[in-house]
Amino acid sequence: MPTLQEIKNRYGIIGNADELNRALDVALQIAPTNLSVLIVGESGVGKEAVPRLIHDNSSRKHNKYIAINCGSIPEGTIDSELFGHAKGSFTGAIGDREGFFGAANGGTIFLDEVGEMPKATQARLLRVLETGEYIRVGESEPRKTDVRIIAATNVNMQKAISEGRFREDLYYRLNTIPINLPPLRERGNDVEMIFRKFAKDTAMKYKREPIMLTDEARMVLRAYKWPGNIRQLKNIAEQLSFMCKDTMVTAEDLYRAGVTIDSDTKELTTTRPTHIHSNGHTDYDYNLQITTLASALQQLNNEFQTFKQYVEQRLDGVNIKPKNEPLFIGTGENGSGSFTITKENSNYNFPQEDIQEDAPHTIEEIERIKIIESLKRHHNNRKKVAEELGLSERTLYRKLLKYDIKKQ
Ligand SMILES: Nc1ncnc2c1ncn2[C@@H]1O[C@H](COP(=O)(O)OP(=O)(O)OP(=O)(O)O)[C@@H](O)[C@H]1O
Ligand SMILES: [Mg+2]
Repeated sequence: MPTLQEIKNRYGIIGNADELNRALDVALQIAPTNLSVLIVGESGVGKEAVPRLIHDNSSRKHNKYIAINCGSIPEGTIDSELFGHAKGSFTGAIGDREGFFGAANGGTIFLDEVGEMPKATQARLLRVLETGEYIRVGESEPRKTDVRIIAATNVNMQKAISEGRFREDLYYRLNTIPINLPPLRERGNDVEMIFRKFAKDTAMKYKREPIMLTDEARMVLRAYKWPGNIRQLKNIAEQLSFMCKDTMVTAEDLYRAGVTIDSDTKELTTTRPTHIHSNGHTDYDYNLQITTLASALQQLNNEFQTFKQYVEQRLDGVNIKPKNEPLFIGTGENGSGSFTITKENSNYNFPQEDIQEDAPHTIEEIERIKIIESLKRHHNNRKKVAEELGLSERTLYRKLLKYDIKKQ
């Protein structure tokens, strides 16, 4: 049996997270059996490599491996695609069709997005799993087939069952061996490792220097939620390889590419203890601390960027203060030290007489105006407003209440 590392090399799987290793190990262990497998995991976590490696490490490897995406075959044709049909069984059935279950006899069928399978097809599939028999559309004689089924889903199957969209008995048949692929946000260091791999691949492909991450950017990468998982990470790495002027990618570059941290979901004050020793000494989850710190940093950076943009766009309207009075005190973009913007040291070319009586005075007033403007721009679409301002929708909602902002 190959080692985990050999499997990872062969299928281009990067990472060492415990959960990932466990999933791959289970896949390898059960590969030589005929047991049905259900691979579960969010979109983009790498489910597609698993059925292939199971097939390649089974005694079926010299027979057919057929991958079918149940979500992309129209409901009207899926039965005939899977189980075949007899000539003339419906309009357009000009000849006999064997169907995938016949063609894959002795091999493996991978049913991707199995949660999308129509109910009638689910009944036929259950029959194959239970008896090894299926009936072609338009025929009545059952045929035998010896096919191993591996299914995958990124939907919550329990929910699909409770809503009546998926048969519970079929679920239990498919789920003989569950393999759970963890989301990227739970894979610790892997995220950097995978990023480096994609950065290197893109650099090789387009003959340029691979991009690298600043320390702060690495923390942001680790703390981000990655809803699209590895597929999203790949897109971001490719995008940044072309967008960044420099090979060094900063947290701000990530922020511009949409990699932002939702401060609402992070604990800012606590650190989770992982082990309390008998002498009272406590170990802490430092990953969480890094995540928390990165989250706070990014939040600060977001707020600074929002304010900076505002000042740049609307400086004419801001009440100009005496030459050396601070207009703004902030932290350097690279996180090093603080700086003060005054009328004297600012790059902005101040007009001589530019005092407006009704100009906003406090950050809160400015923030309120910024939100109202954005709401107008996006016709009250809160999602877009939150995105533009670098806030979570929940934070935006709180601010709408706080400033008593109605629909614009
Ligand atoms: N551990 C990994 N290392 C490197 N690349 C990976 C890894 N896991 C996944 N990928 C890559 O990420 C992309 C998405 O993976 P895949 O298509 O298998 O996702 P999926 O789980 O099937 O998602 P969906 O549910 O949306 O179909 C692919 O290009 C795949 O090669
Ligand atoms: Mg997939």
